[in-house]
Amino acid sequence: MSYNNILSEFENGITTITINRPKKLNALNKETISELHDALDAANNDADTKVIVLIGSGEKAFVAGADISEFADFNVEEGGKLAAKGQELLFDFAENLSTPIIAAVNGFALGGGLELAMSCHFRVASSNAKMGLPETSLGVIPGYGGTQRLPQLIGKGRAMEMVMTAGMIDAQQALHYGLVNHVVEQTELLPLCYKIASKIIRNSSVAISQAINAINANYKDGINGYDIEIEAFGNCFGTEDFKEGTTAFLEKRKADFPGK
Ligand code: COA
Repeated sequence: MSYNNILSEFENGITTITINRPKKLNALNKETISELHDALDAANNDADTKVIVLIGSGEKAFVAGADISEFADFNVEEGGKLAAKGQELLFDFAENLSTPIIAAVNGFALGGGLELAMSCHFRVASSNAKMGLPETSLGVIPGYGGTQRLPQLIGKGRAMEMVMTAGMIDAQQALHYGLVNHVVEQTELLPLCYKIASKIIRNSSVAISQAINAINANYKDGINGYDIEIEAFGNCFGTEDFKEGTTAFLEKRKADFPGK
């Protein structure tokens, strides 16, 4: 598949998706959101892709937000539809992928950019990264899940402060808040993501997808996460990966998971 605003490359079980609008600091316009949906869908359906890494092109930005020029003249109805469509196509979609997705936050992650990073399963940042939800400085609020995922990740009080002040935090503060899991120099960012990915790849992809589903269930309304966990746990017993994993342990060898 060819794209205008993103690049998708596969190597060693990892699909790296690069948001590629550096002149606009990788801002998410409608076309980019749609292309990201398609690329994530394709990677998720590709049996060889065991981990997805998402990064912005250039050295300055992961994503500097939703493309402000596209919605500056929207009315109430159009604003609501913009948020609903974006959440469905990209943000909820990414969070619920069965393939692990890591955000490599390589610079500014603002507004929709931070919301995209927060939709990924976890985040690794470069030391120059700056993160924030500046929407209230534009007269709106985060509309791509930011009011929900930020408090989930860093707690309500910190999220309230970040949203109300519209300020940015640096990578060390984000690490302290638990918003990112690791901070490294920019040149080390992808190597570290790939190193973490290589550890993930050794494990059962079927079990990992069940675990993603069970962990996400904790954050869904009207769903009992413990019940989902019980069901997912049971499901694992019917997989070839489970047979291989337990047999390999008993035979004192490394498991070679078929991913089924
Ligand atoms: N939407 C549309 N275009 C954006 C953008 C966004 N969210 N963020 C940056 N850009 C564009 C700028 O308009 C500029 O385009 P131009 O060269 O055609 O004028 C280009 O990207 C470079 O940005 P610039 O502002 O010149 O870079 P900077 O280094 O001075 O500032 C930021 C960097 C990130 C602080 C600044 O771009 C910014 O505040 N962006 C908006 C962040 C935001 O509010 N995001 C939430 C949106 S809901």
